[in-house]
This record gives sequence, C-alpha cells and structure tokens, in this order.
Amino acid sequence: MKPMFGLETFIKINKCLFPVAGYGTRFLPATKAIPKEMLPILTKPLIQYGVEEAMSAGMTTMAMVTSKYKQAIKNHFEPHSDIEASIKDTTKESLLDEVNHTSSVCNFTYIEQDQMLGLGHAIYTGKPLIGNEPFAVILPDDLCTSTPQGGTEKSDGDSVLKQMTKLYQQHPDCCIVAIEEVPMIEVDKYGVIDGELLEGSNDAYRVNSMVEKPSLKDAPTNLAIIGRYILTPDIFDVLESTEPDKNGEIQITDALMTLAKQGKVIAYKFKGKRFDCGNVEGFVVATNYFAKEQGII
Ligand code: UTP
Repeated sequence: MKPMFGLETFIKINKCLFPVAGYGTRFLPATKAIPKEMLPILTKPLIQYGVEEAMSAGMTTMAMVTSKYKQAIKNHFEPHSDIEASIKDTTKESLLDEVNHTSSVCNFTYIEQDQMLGLGHAIYTGKPLIGNEPFAVILPDDLCTSTPQGGTEKSDGDSVLKQMTKLYQQHPDCCIVAIEEVPMIEVDKYGVIDGELLEGSNDAYRVNSMVEKPSLKDAPTNLAIIGRYILTPDIFDVLESTEPDKNGEIQITDALMTLAKQGKVIAYKFKGKRFDCGNVEGFVVATNYFAKEQGII
C-alpha cells in the first residue's frame, strides 16, 4: 500500500467580518437614516449580496462591525412576522426566501465601533467576534460577481471569496488581498500593491510593498486592493501597534505592510467583475448591469 503523502488538510474559514460602521457620506442625504449597506441594487440590499458571497465560500458566521445608527442591518436578517403573514399564500411569498434562508443557515454576530477611526480600526474592533482563527473580510459596497471581466477571461463561476479561499489553502500562513487593475489616474482612491508573480502563476503575487491612496507619481503599480480579504489572526496584534495615519485613521493597508515585509501577503487578481457601489456612479453602473442581467431593461 502506498504511503499517503501529499494529503493536505483543508483549512475551513468559518467567519466573515463585515466592517459596516462607516457613515456613507457620499450617499447623503440617503444615508442619513438608511445605512449605505442597506441601499438596494434592484431589490436586494448590498449587505445581502455580501452575505450570500460569504456563504458561497462556505462561511456561516457573519460578524458585523456596526454602529448605533445601523440597526436596520440587524433587522434585515431577523424574521418579520407581520410582513410574512401579509404575503403568505400570495405570489410575493417567495420574495423573502433568500434572506430567510441566510438567516436560518447563518449565525449573525454584532459589535459596535464607537468611533470612526478607519477600516483597520473597524477590523480590530471585530476581534472579539473572530478570536484566534483565519477569517474573511467583505466590504459590501464593493459588489462582486463571478462573471468574467471584459468578457474574455474564463471564470469557473466561483465567487471572488471562494476563489480566495481556494488560494488560501496553498498559503495558510499568509493573508490574501483581492486586487484589480485600475486606470492609473484612479490609483489615489485605493491601496496599491507592488510584488512579484508567484512561480507558475499568472494571477497571484507575493506582495513586497503596499501604499494607501498614493499619488500618481508615487504609485508602484496600478494593482488596486478591493474589498475582499482573507486575514490570519496575527493581523490583530499588528493592528494593535499600527499608528494612525495623518488623518487619524488606522489603515488595514499599513498593518498588512508589516506582514508583507515578512513575505506573508499574497495579492490575487480575481476572476469576475467588481462594482464600486460606495459612490453614486458605480452604484448606477451596478444597477444597470443587474437590471440587464435580469432582463428588466
Ligand atoms: P468607506 O470610506 O468606503 O465607507 O470605507 P464610508 O466611510 O462609509 O463612506 P464615505 O466615504 O463616507 O462615503 C470602507 C468600508 O469600511 C467601513 C465602511 O463602513 C465601509 O464598509 N468603515 C470605514 C468602518 O466600518 N469603520 C470606519 O471607521 C471606516
């Protein structure tokens, strides 16, 4: 009998963190009373797209870093017996099926970030919900689909987060960040990486440096980090000692840079499409795209 070499353990990632405490000021006045993550693309709120993507990657604990103004997110994932009674046995009954399914399959946990001190701070705030295990992060205003980008590259249909969890299996001591090529003129809106392609790969880079919102002349590449991460729990220790930037915000990019110096960050050029729904233009593009996909327009 052959010895069973090469049998690798699959490291399951169970938890997905959603930093959703931000004020969404680019969408005022809509976001005065409605969380940005509750704005719908067609009839589904951004947060629900995010939760469904995490589920598609096998995660069942949805850890929300939220704020006192965002009760609507919690309400969305809880039963609403009056509405359910009113649509029972009508053609509308199935309209709640998807969200009710997520609520029945997933465990939702919440913690409040009491001061808006940046994405790195929001992720650190989520530490009690995560503990000592690798976890995913989704920024729901980056809405991703697994449709091939530009219509040329083949996608096997896996969601972006699922593609990343597969890559993570080969690099379990590394953090993975999703990247995409953006026009050089837009690099100042993103964290940007520099790195070398891993041997034999055309879409995964070992990151050697990263810089948050660089000017055009300081940007090492046009490979921009988007709102999908897989993080190892050592990120919490790094975040604890990461200094705030000049605006007083703790940036996840700065914390990841510390790990990149140890060779522990991989950037992955995902297959699929991303819509920046954090700004009005991207939101409209996403709405049109989904409306066309569903034959509404
Ligand atoms: P953004 O800057 O895109 O979101 O942060 P925002 O602050 O809500 O929007 P604008 O710029 O005012 O329009 C990216 C993500 O990080 C979260 C946000 O909720 C968003 O999902 N975030 C940011 C936090 O949870 N806490 C923070 O302190 C900062």
